[in-house]
Amino acid sequence: MARHGGFCLSFFFLILGFVGFFSCTPAEAAIKKYQFDVQVKNISRLCHAKPIVTVNGMFPGPTIYAREGDSVLVNVTNHAQYNMSIHWHGLKQFRNGWADGPAYITQCPIQTGQSYTYTFNITGQRGTLWWHAHILWLRATVYGAIVIMPKEGTPFPFPQPYRETNLIFGEWWNNDVEEIVKQGNQMGLPPNMSDAHTINGKPGPMFPCSEKHTFAMEVEQGKTYLLRIINAALNDELFFAIAGHNLTVVEIDAVYIKPFTTQSILIAPGQTTNVLIQANQRPGRYFMATRTFMDVPIPVDNKTATAILQYKGIPNTVVPLFPSLPAPNDSNLALSYNSKLKSLNTPNFPANVPLNVDRHLFYTIGLGQNACPTCLNGTRLTASLNNVTFVMPQTALLQAHYFNKKGVFTLDFPDRPPTPFNYTGTPLTANLRTSLGTRLSKITFNSTVELVLQDTNLLSVESHPFHLHGYNFFVVGTGVGNFDPVKDPAKFNLVDPPERNTVGVPTGGWAAIRFRADNPGVWFMHCHLELHTGWGLKMAFVVEDGKGPNQSVLPPPKDLPTC
Ligand code: C2O
Repeated sequence: MARHGGFCLSFFFLILGFVGFFSCTPAEAAIKKYQFDVQVKNISRLCHAKPIVTVNGMFPGPTIYAREGDSVLVNVTNHAQYNMSIHWHGLKQFRNGWADGPAYITQCPIQTGQSYTYTFNITGQRGTLWWHAHILWLRATVYGAIVIMPKEGTPFPFPQPYRETNLIFGEWWNNDVEEIVKQGNQMGLPPNMSDAHTINGKPGPMFPCSEKHTFAMEVEQGKTYLLRIINAALNDELFFAIAGHNLTVVEIDAVYIKPFTTQSILIAPGQTTNVLIQANQRPGRYFMATRTFMDVPIPVDNKTATAILQYKGIPNTVVPLFPSLPAPNDSNLALSYNSKLKSLNTPNFPANVPLNVDRHLFYTIGLGQNACPTCLNGTRLTASLNNVTFVMPQTALLQAHYFNKKGVFTLDFPDRPPTPFNYTGTPLTANLRTSLGTRLSKITFNSTVELVLQDTNLLSVESHPFHLHGYNFFVVGTGVGNFDPVKDPAKFNLVDPPERNTVGVPTGGWAAIRFRADNPGVWFMHCHLELHTGWGLKMAFVVEDGKGPNQSVLPPPKDLPTC
């Protein structure tokens, strides 16, 4: 499909009581249609060939292009052997959880041979988001960018770039990812880590058999470029830098921020970051590089993926310069980078931070160990929020909620941990059992919620990127150590906190987020490290319908898959 490849359809438009017929003029909303054929394809990286699940045979998959205000229809036809679903990460899907995509949360998976059309409007959002498979670990290869341009005639609130490029970071395993995960689960241990990181599906020239597998971007001296950076890696937070070039960060998670200039960025799985770069260096070749941030002794794929920024007319024989990347364990840099993110908060792009809180939630993030006689150590590693390890249901939660089907979930997810303790003191290695359940938390329509996510030292502290479906939230505060409910709220930023859909909870620390629950439905919240999601580091909110005419969950589409 061509760029901006949707079909622009005519539509009826109602103005002041007149029904007018308009063809698609530039200023009007359009309907963008895409066909996603989920299909297996053989590809090779690092000299290892294997079949992977793709969309339309592409890796990464096709980019969705739309404008703010557009409607998007994506017909997904599943030709692969896995039942699957696709999530449009960061799109708010107002009243329309049916198009959100997490399997068994908002829909049953699309079975092999079946189709489902995701239909949604893009309202009040512009910037970079992304889509990915939302079942098993299929998102290892099933992912792509979503580029939402501002409404026609509306400029960016930063200098207009000459060109733009997507940079999607991923992870590559030489062997079949689902097999590796299965083995890990059987042993009750983490599966083997990835063999390489990738930039636009390519690991770069530091890896074997990578001549063809290096992404290069050509620039012209003196021009400004917009990079739409997406972390689609499964388990790794990443630093990114370009040799000789500063990065000016202008947007995160499809929300404009106050621009700031930096040598490197930090991006967690699930997050997106738009940066401007100026091709203002001596014409040459410069490496772009990405490497894992990990500040506790937990093994990770620490290999560096590279791509090349290449000035026009420079031959490929020139050896590129290498950037200085932050040390992999640089906690201070991680904290200081995140503290620079501030909402733009202008009249056009206000930060509507909830100032009063109706509902205070405090969730501890923990690793744990449950009994597993067949596992290697007789135990299985697990993870929990408030000591609850989430159990996936057999049928979709949103359907159960909408049709009032009993027995699928309970609404007793605890608002605070069952037993308070010193969350971030010395490592706790005893009593690591968690309780299992499909427990959800009920939220009154339009109430304001403050959620403090507190990391713990159960087994180990670790940085966790938390993603909430159906909403953006404001990150009003973060800190290291235990959250202090008396002292810390006084330091919250209620003026221009970053607004996003995925927040990195600092290692051994906490993050406080606020949102207004104005989107009814069932909304998943989980750690975006696939390892931890799989271990149960997830839960869901049931946001009740409001009383008004546009305040309830829309009826499900006719082709909604069944379990
Ligand atoms: Cu990008 Cu529920 O995930």
